[in-house]
Amino acid sequence: MTETARRIVLASRPIGGPTLDNFRLEEIPIPQPGSGQILLRTLWLSLDPYMRGRMSDAPSYAKPVSIGDVMEGGTVSEVVTSNVPGFARGDIVVSRAGWQTHALSDGSGVQKVDPARAPISTALGVLGMPGMTAYMGLLEIGKPAAGETVVVAAASGAVGSVVGQIARIKGARTVGIAGGPDKCRYVIEELGLDTCIDHRAPDLATRLAAACPKGIDVYFENVGGAVFEAVFPLLNPFARIPVCGLISIYNATSLSPGPILLPQLMRAVLTKRLTFRGFIVTDFAARYGDFMRDVSGWVGEGRIKYREDVVEGLENAPRALIGLLRGENFGKLLVQVAPASA
Ligand SMILES: NC(=O)c1ccc[n+]([C@@H]2O[C@H](COP(=O)([O-])OP(=O)(O)OC[C@H]3O[C@@H](n4cnc5c(N)ncnc54)[C@H](OP(=O)(O)O)[C@@H]3O)[C@@H](O)[C@H]2O)c1
Repeated sequence: MTETARRIVLASRPIGGPTLDNFRLEEIPIPQPGSGQILLRTLWLSLDPYMRGRMSDAPSYAKPVSIGDVMEGGTVSEVVTSNVPGFARGDIVVSRAGWQTHALSDGSGVQKVDPARAPISTALGVLGMPGMTAYMGLLEIGKPAAGETVVVAAASGAVGSVVGQIARIKGARTVGIAGGPDKCRYVIEELGLDTCIDHRAPDLATRLAAACPKGIDVYFENVGGAVFEAVFPLLNPFARIPVCGLISIYNATSLSPGPILLPQLMRAVLTKRLTFRGFIVTDFAARYGDFMRDVSGWVGEGRIKYREDVVEGLENAPRALIGLLRGENFGKLLVQVAPASA
């Protein structure tokens, strides 16, 4: 084990897209756990789009990271020392330890991971927060019925890939939207969606309309912007729109009105009886057991596949988060911070 711990703190707030200057790598002594504390060593750090929001002090559903504080993040960690009943040296846990090699915890919110069930990194992806987001948003809000058309944005990503595959399991016709031919090929050939539309190629609206000849019954919104503009005219009466994320505007410095104006949107909501519902995954915390039962079952049976995009080393987390916000990741973005002890 290294003698010093390393951590990445928020050095300044970004204006527009984050830059490397917004982060600072620090070295500190490894913290010593007191009574009622455990010392965690980070193995895997999850990088997620919400982190852009925590870097900003604009009002949101969660508190921002303060300047000089460790960047927030979910981790898979190993218990090094435990002074908390129920945790022992060597346990593998999911925790919100943040962007650092070591962290102290009182055990609250720390969940054990069963390494026999699946690779431990999946506790941050398909069997973790993004998988649960997909499961709850699609099934509780989208409610896809067999034969309906489900469209999902960011379809090759951590959330979108699980949405598309659950919709397929439920018998829907599935249309992914992703950036570039490689991601679209993956969505069709590996994830088994019926088709996938490249939102970076020209004529998105025309190609999406051709892919949805019966309109759209469920649109799982991950991105907003130009993708939503192409989806909007195709929404069927009684369509359901789980609003999960709007990544296309996370780096925006101002929100300019697009071609869909508020009166048009409200008229469509009324006349087509549309249901838009925003949600945060924690709204459904009580349903964690259902999610684990179903999604771990589907992963075990090979009916849900997943892909991880692994970056080596904590020091590379800032560059990787900047890339995530530009679509440079391909699958669930993870930082391998350290290997597990032998
Ligand atoms: N509500 C919740 O509780 C909750 C929880 C987790 C995640 N989310 C949201 O779910 C969405 C997906 O998150 P994730 O973790 O699964 O990330 P991800 O899809 O693995 O990665 C983000 C992807 O977004 C796409 N993207 C980036 N900029 C874009 C733009 N300007 N226009 C269109 N697409 C763009 C890129 O895919 P392409 O290359 O395919 O464009 C990129 O790879 C995000 O909006 C996130 O904030 C919400």
